[in-house]
Amino acid sequence: MVDIHTHILPQLDDGASSLEESLEMCAAQEESGVEAVVATPHFYDGSEADAFLERREERLSLVAASLAARGAGLRVLGGAEVALRPVLHAHAKQLRRLTLGGTRYLLAEFPFAPIPMEDLFDYVELIFDQDLVPVIAHPERFSYFQDNYDLLNLLLEKGAVFQVTAQSLLGTFGPKAMQLSWAMLQADAIDCLASDAHEAYGRRGADLLTIRELLASQGVPEDQLARMLEETPGEIVADRELSDREIGFILPPKRFGRQRF
Ligand SMILES: [Fe+2]
Repeated sequence: MVDIHTHILPQLDDGASSLEESLEMCAAQEESGVEAVVATPHFYDGSEADAFLERREERLSLVAASLAARGAGLRVLGGAEVALRPVLHAHAKQLRRLTLGGTRYLLAEFPFAPIPMEDLFDYVELIFDQDLVPVIAHPERFSYFQDNYDLLNLLLEKGAVFQVTAQSLLGTFGPKAMQLSWAMLQADAIDCLASDAHEAYGRRGADLLTIRELLASQGVPEDQLARMLEETPGEIVADRELSDREIGFILPPKRFGRQRF
């Protein structure tokens, strides 16, 4: 498997708090059958890319050296989870430096507070204008998408790529995120499942295998799991165009009228 969204580097954000924890997360990933992870620390300020990249590279080399010393085979690539904020409009050229493993794919996080619909589309355009492809981080967790699935259908039409956090399907982020993530799954609209790991185990953990097995036991087809956890994230880190597939409309669950007895 390939995990494109993790907070695995030590002391950069609210993820791994030490090198030990970082290595524990890497071990959990490797035991889970993950071959490559992208380290995607939060990037909040569009003007500070130099300082951010310097710190990220330093932590990446530290982790890579420790993994090599332990004979671990896990590949850790550099990326960022770029917060979409107005400041980015003035620093759009920096975005290319923040992509997932130096590819054309940029992991972008919308604000959690509601924003005008035009702003959502402006951010997506801003990324396309740089010849990059927006990979929207966990859209299922935002209230404005939970309340209006059609916004996601429109973003799909524009060519946005969706990363859903695997734990959302298990209900970790509440019933609305769970419902939306299952609706996306049913439409085959999830490009990648990722861990968004902030710790080795637990609700923000790095263990994708347990979740994969749970989803398989709940009837999610094996080929769909392989596509979301291996093939599409593999294409992203290899900087290939994503394979075509048919994506349906993301539909809210049917509302039934009042039952009559
Ligand atoms: Fe994240």
